[in-house]
Amino acid sequence: MNDAEAGKRAAAERALAYVEDGMVVGVGTGSTVRWFIEGLAAGRHRLAGAVSSSEASTALLRRHGIEVLDLNAAGPVPLYVDGADECDGRRRLVKGGGGALTREKIIAAVAGRFVCIVDPGKRVEVLGRFPLPVEVIPMARSHVARELVRLGGQPVWRQGTVTDNGNWILDVHGLAIREPEALESEINQIVGVVSNGLFARRPADVVLIGSDGTL
Ligand code: A5P
Repeated sequence: MNDAEAGKRAAAERALAYVEDGMVVGVGTGSTVRWFIEGLAAGRHRLAGAVSSSEASTALLRRHGIEVLDLNAAGPVPLYVDGADECDGRRRLVKGGGGALTREKIIAAVAGRFVCIVDPGKRVEVLGRFPLPVEVIPMARSHVARELVRLGGQPVWRQGTVTDNGNWILDVHGLAIREPEALESEINQIVGVVSNGLFARRPADVVLIGSDGTL
């Protein structure tokens, strides 16, 4: 196992300490979360169930015998655990490398506590080195791309990717995101945008970095 993978696994195992008996746990998407789901499976009988941020995580949770609940019927979600592509010192994140940003954002909005799990390579001073994912309604792709260029980015269509919601992704390169809350809102105002991968207005509450870092 390489260092990045070991960091992901360590952070995921630390997140298990936030899980309490009888909880509905929100579960994110990605390779870091896969380690978390493995750990969760060992104590699955203690859970009331999980709400899932993607079809991929839903399949994995079910394979591990964990019940997946509809968010609309699940009641309170005290805990959400998910990875990130980048994290700054104020626990603001770039997410969506796996294309699941919209459902991730919905669960983060609902959750009482959002615990983010990352390997140390994800920690940055300024967000934007990782291309910012933007989910768009397919017919609006060119319009949204032109607007993103006006904001200073270089959008690239993630061809061949269709999100769980039936939409497309633009990855925006070349942004140094010094005001993430403002940019998050501005991108959301573009007609045709479903959501964007900045988690700044609702940042993580805790970020667990590898085996011993905490923000
Ligand atoms: C999924 O759409 C993303 O938001 C993931 O949380 C993010 O890409 C981190 O993925 P890894 O844990 O695979 O690095």
